[in-house]
Amino acid sequence: MALIAPSMLSADFLHLEKDVEFVNRHADLFHLDIMDGVFVPNISYGFPVVEAIASAASKPLDVHLMIVRPENYVERFAKAGAGMLSFHLNATENPGDVVALIHENGLKAGIAINPDIAVERLFPYLHVCEFVLVMSVFAGFGGQKFMEGTYGRIETLRREISSQGLPCLIEVDGGVSGKNAAALKAAGADILVAGSAVFMADDPAAAVSSMR
Ligand code: DX5
Ligand code: ZN
Repeated sequence: MALIAPSMLSADFLHLEKDVEFVNRHADLFHLDIMDGVFVPNISYGFPVVEAIASAASKPLDVHLMIVRPENYVERFAKAGAGMLSFHLNATENPGDVVALIHENGLKAGIAINPDIAVERLFPYLHVCEFVLVMSVFAGFGGQKFMEGTYGRIETLRREISSQGLPCLIEVDGGVSGKNAAALKAAGADILVAGSAVFMADDPAAAVSSMR
């Protein structure tokens, strides 16, 4: 069993309420991608959109920060309605301090890594995080091709988390669909993020079912 987290980056922003209702009904979490044009080359959306989604959401908001100095924005995202908050390992000097700050604000904390960062670099934080986010594409854009090397990375993390007997969940993000969901779950993923596979599908509900 895995939680399904549609990425709102691929939602219909002109009819956002419709897609929020869809996630309330068919999925488990809202995945919200925050990009600053500095940590990643793309810019997405900010607080007004997060607040609008929070006002209509009956499922938790999983906010994925792709920004420099995430510590400066933890409180704002907590106030905007985030329930889970992740940031990139290499976006800050002291990841452990950012995790502590996220917890002080009452949120679940996660650390994300791009495909070129060794998963072992997450090991020192597994006991303090509620989840880790393994990127299966380079962060910055929706609709990219899933990288096959992700399976082995998730297996390595799963082994370490199990051997330490920790509750830390593994989230995977980028190019996830009904085609790779079963293999990702078998490798040890607990949360599947999918943007284009859900919102660009002819039948989004069937797309979520195919991932379950
Ligand atoms: C990419 C984002 C993803 C993205 C996923 O930087 O972190 O959450 O929206 O989109 P798909 O599922 O289309 O790869
Ligand atoms: Zn994301």
